[in-house]
Amino acid sequence: MALSPAEQEMVRALWKKMGTNVCIYVTEALERTFLAFPSTKTYFPHWDLSTGSAQIKTHGQKVADALTLAVNQLYDLTGALSALSDLHAHKFCVNPINFQLLGHCLLVTLARHYPGDFSPAMQMSLDKFLNLVTSALASKYP
Ligand code: HEM
Repeated sequence: MALSPAEQEMVRALWKKMGTNVCIYVTEALERTFLAFPSTKTYFPHWDLSTGSAQIKTHGQKVADALTLAVNQLYDLTGALSALSDLHAHKFCVNPINFQLLGHCLLVTLARHYPGDFSPAMQMSLDKFLNLVTSALASKYP
């Protein structure tokens, strides 16, 4: 279900507050995903908790940029993420269940960093947004 204008505003407001930290939190959420759901790590075999990996930082930056694009195109998330869905489905062969797991971990990560902003309404808005992102990324799967 699409985000209401009030929900869109909440998502945009948190994104604005994060500013240049989006990449840091997305990378943290990726690492949390690998730890909480170890099967997700298989796509990044060089990642190690103690050293991190350049590939994860790079993927974190790319995911952050894609999510920021999505926040700026809330009216057409499927269109905004269509090419990325194609890549994850046909080139990277990522099981789409992983998008949901990352979305869940991103929600937890943001709640930890912004406890004062995390009203139930904010939680609902972000959860809806991340579910829409997950659906958009899964749109090109057979
Ligand atoms: C919100 C969810 C996600 C977004 C927005 C996203 C975005 C991206 C972007 C922008 C790229 C670079 C595409 C290019 O090279 O042109 C990428 C690559 C990739 N993604 Fe994702 N991704 C997401 C979730 C995931 C998840 C959950 C996994 C696996 C657990 C994954 C695995 C990969 C892999 C293996 C690559 C190729 C290697 C690399 O670029 O490091 N992605 N993703």
